[in-house]
Amino acid sequence: MRTAASNVVGARGSSCCFNTAAHQHHLSRKPWWATVSGRGQLCTSWTFRCKTPIRCTRGSREGKRRRGKGLMPLIPKQDTQPALSTSTMRVYAISDLHTDYEANMEWVRSLSSSLYQPHTLIVAGDVANSLETFTTTMRILKEKFQHVFFVAGNHDLWCKSSEGPDLDSVTKLKMLNDTCKSLGVCTSPQKLNGVWIYPLLSWYHQSFDKERDIEGYNIRPPEKAASDFRLCKWPLPLDQMVDGSLARYFDELNLDEFQSAVANDQDDCQIITFSHFLPRFELCPEKRMLFYPNLPKIIGSDWLETRLRTIHGRHGRPTACHVFGHTHFCWDASLDGIRYIQSPLAYPKERERRINGGTDWLPLCVYDSDKGGLVEGPLDCHWSNYYRLNKRDPDNTELAPWVANLYRPVVASEK
Ligand SMILES: [Fe+2]
Ligand SMILES: [Fe+2]
Repeated sequence: MRTAASNVVGARGSSCCFNTAAHQHHLSRKPWWATVSGRGQLCTSWTFRCKTPIRCTRGSREGKRRRGKGLMPLIPKQDTQPALSTSTMRVYAISDLHTDYEANMEWVRSLSSSLYQPHTLIVAGDVANSLETFTTTMRILKEKFQHVFFVAGNHDLWCKSSEGPDLDSVTKLKMLNDTCKSLGVCTSPQKLNGVWIYPLLSWYHQSFDKERDIEGYNIRPPEKAASDFRLCKWPLPLDQMVDGSLARYFDELNLDEFQSAVANDQDDCQIITFSHFLPRFELCPEKRMLFYPNLPKIIGSDWLETRLRTIHGRHGRPTACHVFGHTHFCWDASLDGIRYIQSPLAYPKERERRINGGTDWLPLCVYDSDKGGLVEGPLDCHWSNYYRLNKRDPDNTELAPWVANLYRPVVASEK
């Protein structure tokens, strides 16, 4: 769903100027979005790390120079890890590879052929729009990593006419799984060196969005804004216009027998579940911050949260971890005993706007047996940092400054 990423906050804006004193003096009054303080403040740039002090350079010659020059190529940092013990188990995670973009495919190709060889990679959906590109991508990844796990995202289920006039998204899901099987990529739960890796299929439903809508602006409904509604083809009786039908269908594809096997394993067993979509709305910024304020209607599933709680336990546990993707926001937050992490590659243009260039943190290592388990957290992700410092305030529907100029108020005659 190209719309999801290209309309969310952070897909625009190239400097982190809203959190600086230099910017504050421009304000005649102090609105809600200027009231945060401390590290990891509100920032218009979508970035994984936002701890470098950034001066407000908006409109300045220096700002233009930085924006033109600061678009560093995304090259994975390689060959800098310490030597491994023979039993080292590492699990890396990434989502939203979108290798239909040549720059993203190049990123995949440029991953070290030796560094990740003994390790495991979780790919949390949105690999590619076309089956051919998907196959190429997964083949390369399987050459780089010993184990690769995959779960489908919305882009993976797009059906282009060039792939067959009668192709539907359910058939495409089967084709993706067959491709994975032939490449040795896992699409079902496996236990590796004491760590369960558990893919969970999911789809979004609009009632996942529980927060107040932004009203009075010309914001398009999801059916008109998201390409999924045009490019995913659902066979009867599935119908994405009926809220929840697809979310329920995808949830039921997850296999119960694995669920009980994992849940009945030892109490201290390490489990990492993963999905493409979000299990909780708190894992996305509030509507007033988003370039597309209706985004929360097309990102997540309540069934998914219920499902993963049956695996991790209702109250979670210290080792419980869920990896997700889709919104292209880096995230690391613990909610009710489960740690939720997103580490997307995202679109090339989105990467260009990351403050520190995004060159050295993907794929993200989420588990390292040599370091005692899950990677130490919380990781320095911009928006999850923000929500550690600030409570959600969904009743506030004043559009953020970087959003407000994208929409015009609807006059009475248009309603
Ligand atoms: Fe994506
Ligand atoms: Fe997606």
